[in-house]
Amino acid sequence: MNAIINNIEIIKAKTTKINDVDFDNLKFGHVFSDHMLECNFKDGKWQAPKVVPYQAIALDPSAKIFHYGQSVFEGMKAYKDANEDVWLFRPLDNFKRLNISSKRLAIPELPENYFMDGLKTLLQVDNGWIPKKDGSSLYIRPFVFASGGGFHASPADAYKFIIATAPSGAYFSGKVKVLIEEKYSRSANGGVGFAKAGGNYAGQFYPTQLAIDKGYHQVIWTDDNTHEYIEEAGAMNIFVRINDTLITGPTSDRILDGITRKSIIELAEAEGISVEVRKISVQEVVAAAKDGSLKEMFGAGTAAVISPIAGFGYKDADYDLPELDDTYASTLKKRITDIQTNKAEDPFGWRY
Ligand code: COI
Repeated sequence: MNAIINNIEIIKAKTTKINDVDFDNLKFGHVFSDHMLECNFKDGKWQAPKVVPYQAIALDPSAKIFHYGQSVFEGMKAYKDANEDVWLFRPLDNFKRLNISSKRLAIPELPENYFMDGLKTLLQVDNGWIPKKDGSSLYIRPFVFASGGGFHASPADAYKFIIATAPSGAYFSGKVKVLIEEKYSRSANGGVGFAKAGGNYAGQFYPTQLAIDKGYHQVIWTDDNTHEYIEEAGAMNIFVRINDTLITGPTSDRILDGITRKSIIELAEAEGISVEVRKISVQEVVAAAKDGSLKEMFGAGTAAVISPIAGFGYKDADYDLPELDDTYASTLKKRITDIQTNKAEDPFGWRY
C-alpha cells in the first residue's frame, strides 16, 4: 500500500526479497534492499523525492552520464543497536560533500531536506534491512548523475539523485597489501580528486589491476607531480604510524576530505596520540620500514572503516609491517565503531 511519510510519497514494492538474504554472511554491497529513494532534476529544479521499489533505470542512450561521466556519489552507513534504534554517522557531512562534489562536476546542488528527509524515510521503510550483527551495517549509496541527453559536451539539463542501500559486511577481509604507485596518478592539482566523482574510481581500476596481478590488493597513490609523497589509497585515506606518531597527508584538491579520516584524527588526539597532518614522503616510509620505526599503516574510509596494511611494495622490493599486539588501528577502530553503533558515549556529537 502506498503512503506518505515525512511528506515523501512511498510506492511500496509488491514483494520483498529479504527472506533470500543470509544476514549472517553478508558480503559488501552485493544485495540491495527493497526500496530506493529517487528524485529528478528537470525544468531547472529538483522535483519532490519519492521512495520507490529498487529497480532498473531506463535511460536514453545519449544520457550524458554515459559519455561524459557526469556523476558523483557518497558512502554512508546505518547501524542498528541492541534496542533496534537506528544510527547514522555525521550524515550532514556526507550531504555537504555531495554538493561540493556536484558543484565541481557542474551538477545542480540538492536541497538539504530532500537528502535528509529522503534518507530518513527510506530507512524507515527498509528498517528491516539494517543488520544488527557486529561488523555489519546497511551501506548507503547516495548518487547523482546526468540523465539528460545529447552528444554536446556540456552539462546535462536533467539529473537523477538516487539513494540505494545494501546490507553489508566488511569491505576487506583480512590484512591488505599495497603497492606504492610510481607511474600512474589518481588526481592532479586543479582536478577532481577532492570530489567523489565516479570517474576518479574508474581511473584507478587499470593501475589497481596491474597491482593485483603482482599480488597486491590496492594502490597507494602518490602525488602526480613527483610521485615522492603518498596521498591516498584506492577506496580509503591513509595513515602511517612512525614510532608513536600517527601521520596523514593534508587534504588538498587532490585528496578526498574523508569523514572517517577527520574523525580518526580527532579520536586519536582525544586518546592522547600524537597526530601530524603533513606530507609523508615515500622515502620517509621506506626508511622507517628499514630501521623498524614504521609500526603501522592503515586505510580509513566509510566502507573500509579502518583497514590495517600488512605490507607494501615499492620499486620491486617488499616491506612487511610488524605484527603488534596493541595497535592504534584496533584502538581507533573500536572507538569509532562503538560511537557509530551506540555502544559508547559520543562526546563529539557525531551520532545521528
Ligand atoms: C566509501 O568508503 O564509502 C566509499 O565511498 C569508497 C568506495 C570506493 C567503496
